[in-house]
Amino acid sequence: MGFQPAKWPRKLRSTEWFGGTSRDHIYHRSWMKNQGLPGDLFDGRPVIGICNTWSELTPCNAHLRDLAERVKHGIYEAGGFPVEFPVFSTGESTLRPTAMMFRNLASMDVEEALRGTPVDGVVLLVGCDKTTPSLLMGAASVDLPAIVVTGGPMLNGWFQGERVGSGTHLWKFSEAVKAGEMTQEEFLEAEAAMSRSPGSCNTMGTASTMASMAEALGMALSGNAAIPAVDSRRRAMAQLSGRRIVQMVKDDLKPSDVLTREAFENAIRTNGAIGGSTNAVIHLLAIAGRVGLDLTLEDWDRCGRDIPTIVNLMPSGKYLMEEFFYAGGLPVVIKRLGEAGVLHKDALTVAGESMWDQVKNARNWNEDVILPVEQALTQQGGIAVLRGNLAPNGAVLKPSAASEHLLQHRGRAVVFEDIDDYKAKINDDALDIDETCVMVLKNCGPKGYPGMSEVGNMGLPPKVLKKGITDMVRISDSRMSGTAYGTVVLHTSPEAAAGGPLAVVRDGDMIVLDVPNRSLHLEISDEELKARLEAWAPSHHVPDSGYARLFHDHVQGADTGVDFDFLKGCRGSAVPKDSH
Ligand code: FES
Repeated sequence: MGFQPAKWPRKLRSTEWFGGTSRDHIYHRSWMKNQGLPGDLFDGRPVIGICNTWSELTPCNAHLRDLAERVKHGIYEAGGFPVEFPVFSTGESTLRPTAMMFRNLASMDVEEALRGTPVDGVVLLVGCDKTTPSLLMGAASVDLPAIVVTGGPMLNGWFQGERVGSGTHLWKFSEAVKAGEMTQEEFLEAEAAMSRSPGSCNTMGTASTMASMAEALGMALSGNAAIPAVDSRRRAMAQLSGRRIVQMVKDDLKPSDVLTREAFENAIRTNGAIGGSTNAVIHLLAIAGRVGLDLTLEDWDRCGRDIPTIVNLMPSGKYLMEEFFYAGGLPVVIKRLGEAGVLHKDALTVAGESMWDQVKNARNWNEDVILPVEQALTQQGGIAVLRGNLAPNGAVLKPSAASEHLLQHRGRAVVFEDIDDYKAKINDDALDIDETCVMVLKNCGPKGYPGMSEVGNMGLPPKVLKKGITDMVRISDSRMSGTAYGTVVLHTSPEAAAGGPLAVVRDGDMIVLDVPNRSLHLEISDEELKARLEAWAPSHHVPDSGYARLFHDHVQGADTGVDFDFLKGCRGSAVPKDSH
C-alpha cells in the first residue's frame, strides 16, 4: 500500500471553471447560481459529482434519488460542493435488445460527463446489473477520485410460504408451468411476490455480484454490497460515502490507486467465494482494460479455481441477500479469504485503508448463510475457463450452478442456429432430443445478438422436463443471467458471428465437455473443422446504421470484456480543447 496522500489545500480542476474573475469564470458561476447556490460554494472546495443512474425505467434504481440526497448531506458535512447529474441508466428488466448492448454507451456518457464538467471527484450511484460496470468503466477511464454506492438489494420475496429469489424463481416457475407442475394463475400470482420492495435483484445475481465486486475491488466502503435497499443503514452508507469522497479528493486518491492487479485478484477470489455471476468475468475484464491492466481469462481460472463457495445464496444455494446482510455480509467472506492466505491484504481501498483493515473485525452471525469451508456448496467455486477446438479463445462455466453429474459429459449436438430457431423448435415434440444431448445455440454473442443476450440457460424441451429432468449441457456464445443455473457453457469465443468454430457445429456432432480438465471439444478432425470454417459465411443481421452499427463494428470478444476497441485505456481528466 504505497499510496501517499496529496497535500491539502491545493488548487483543484474545478477552479478552472469557478476560481477566478475573468468573463468565463463569471459565466460558469453565474449560470450555476440560478439554482440558488451561495457564493462561498465556489471558494475552491471540492466539487463532487453524484453520477446518478436513477430512472423509473430501471426499477432496481428507482430509489436512488433518495440516496443521492443522503450522499449530498455527507458531502456538505465534509465541506464539499455536491452536484447531482443523470447518466444513461441501463435497466436490465426493460431495455431492449439487451442492457448489455448499452453498457459501453453508458460508460462513454459517464466518461465524457466527468471530463467535460467541473467535478473533482464523483460518487457513482448504481444498482441494476450493467449500471455498476458502466459507471466504473467510465470513471476508470477519467481517473478522478471515485467511490461506489449501490442501491442495495430488494427484501426477500415470499410465495406460498417459501423464499422466492429474483430471476431464479422466474426461471424455475416458468419451467414448472411447462412441466405441468404449476398453473399459469399461480405464476401470475407470484409476479408481485418476487419484487416486494425497492432495490436490485435479491439473489446473488449479477447486480449483487457486481456490488460485491465493487466492494472487493476496494471501490466501495466495506459492508456496502449487502445492505438491503430499504434498510436505514443503506442511507447511512450513502451519507458516509459522501463524506469520504471529499477527503479522497483532498488526498487525490484515484481509481488507478485502487484498481491494481491485486485488487482484481481479490475480486476474482471473492467471486468464487460468493458463487457470483459469470457476467462478472466480462465486466472485470472490461474495467481492467480501462486502467490499462492486462487481466485475462487465465487469471480468472488461476485465482478462482480452488476457492470454495461459502455463501449459501440463490441461485447456487438457498438464501437471499437480506440474510447475507444479517449474517455479516461481504466483509466476513473477504476476511475468510484473508485467513485462508489467498487475499492481498494490503490492497488499498477507497477508505484509505488496506482491505484487511476494513474486514479484520468482521463476524459471521449465521453459519448456515456463510458456511464453514467444510460445508461449502462446492470446493471449486471459481469460474471454470474451458478451452478446446470449440472455444479456442475460451468459454466459461460456473461449477457452483452446474450439475455434478454433467461436469464430464459426451453428447450428441442438437443445434439451434439462432434464438429464433431455438424458439421455433424447442416445444416441438418431434425434435430429436433427449437428456443426454448437448444443446448448442449460435449467434447470440456480442455481434450476433446485439450486446450478447442472456439466453445461455435456454429452457429444456418440454418432453425432457416432463420426465423430471431439470438440467442438460448447453453451449452458446451468449451470456446467462446471474440469477440462473444449470450446466451451461457460456461466452464461447470467438463467437459464431465472428466465425468461431461454434458456427460450424452440426446436428449429430459429438461434443465432449470436461470441466475438471477445462476442455470443450468437438469430435471432428482438424481437417474437417478447417474445411467447414472455410465454407462458412456469416448469417447474422448486421445493423445498417446508428449505435447498433457502431457496437457491431467495434465490439471486442467476450474473452476480453466486450468493450469497444477504441475505449480501452485511461484517457485522464484533462479536457482536450476548452471552447471557453
Ligand atoms: Fe435489475 Fe436484476 S433486473 S438488478
